[in-house]
Amino acid sequence: MADPVLKWAGGKRQLLEEIYARFPSEFAEYHEPFLGGGAVFFDMEPRGGTVNDTNPRLVNCYRVIRDRPEELADRLAAFDDPESDPDPELAFAAEDWKDRSVDQYFYQQRARFNRRAYADETWPDDERSRIEEAALLVYLNRTCYNGLYRENSDGGFNVPIGRYADPDWVQADRIREASDALARTEIRNEDFEYVLDAAAEGDLVYVDPPYEPMSATADFAEYSAEGFDRDDQERLLRVASELDERGVNVVLSNSGVTFERYREAGFDVTREGATRSINSDETARGEVDEIIATNVPEEERSESPGQASIADF
Ligand SMILES: C[S@@+](CC[C@H](N)C(=O)[O-])C[C@H]1O[C@@H](n2cnc3c(N)ncnc32)[C@H](O)[C@@H]1O
Repeated sequence: MADPVLKWAGGKRQLLEEIYARFPSEFAEYHEPFLGGGAVFFDMEPRGGTVNDTNPRLVNCYRVIRDRPEELADRLAAFDDPESDPDPELAFAAEDWKDRSVDQYFYQQRARFNRRAYADETWPDDERSRIEEAALLVYLNRTCYNGLYRENSDGGFNVPIGRYADPDWVQADRIREASDALARTEIRNEDFEYVLDAAAEGDLVYVDPPYEPMSATADFAEYSAEGFDRDDQERLLRVASELDERGVNVVLSNSGVTFERYREAGFDVTREGATRSINSDETARGEVDEIIATNVPEEERSESPGQASIADF
């Protein structure tokens, strides 16, 4: 059992038991097309299969965690306390990408991270650059306010500094465990529909999309500049139905407004009330109406997910 390296909006740690209760007791390969922080994947450590996310910075980070865990941990250990002064040795010590002056180490790293997003020539094109990119993402994620990845409409990471008594941004052991968990997994960076090609009969697909908003003011779908709109939600329902027709096990979480749609499509749907600390505004936290839908028949489910050997299928 590994732990997630990153904190991510929509993290599923509080819902693990309910999700596992729908998993089949046996399956071949495991696929997670909306990985995010990967709470389910890292807890389960499946053998083989695929994980995927459209966020290229997140995917780069997981590839570095899998392939270069020691270099990543070493680089992270060289980072400084977020509240200390900017490092004069590092580029962009004086100003951020909007030319505002930067007076703390945290904001210096944030400015470096955002500069990279806009300057094509600095986007990871060699191993060292990919490790630097991943280290910046982990450092910012562990030291920013509430540990959220959030981009403004220009695609810049805009979360302010967090207040932690003793922030641990290195987490070398977590990185090593996550690296082992990812060792046998293909990491992809594309739209979720790839799973129609990747998943075979007897496999298990756990689907955790950006939730459809419960109301016009809720913004659960805004994980990145791209967003995930109503058409994407409808496309996802079609993909889930097609997987079902092909004998693939599907377990899906989404917001309560999708209840009827998944039931009409033939899935077994239940409502769950989970407390999500997704919103940085304390007053907006609270019970979120969400569903879990599955096509796994009750008699094939298990409280503790297991993986059958590929040879059994
Ligand atoms: C709800 S989060 C997943 C949370 C995750 N289960 C966890 O425990 O942290 C949804 C993820 O889907 C990704 N995403 C958005 N649109 C996508 C698409 N069209 N295809 C694949 N991934 C997408 C986002 O970048 C985000 O990381």
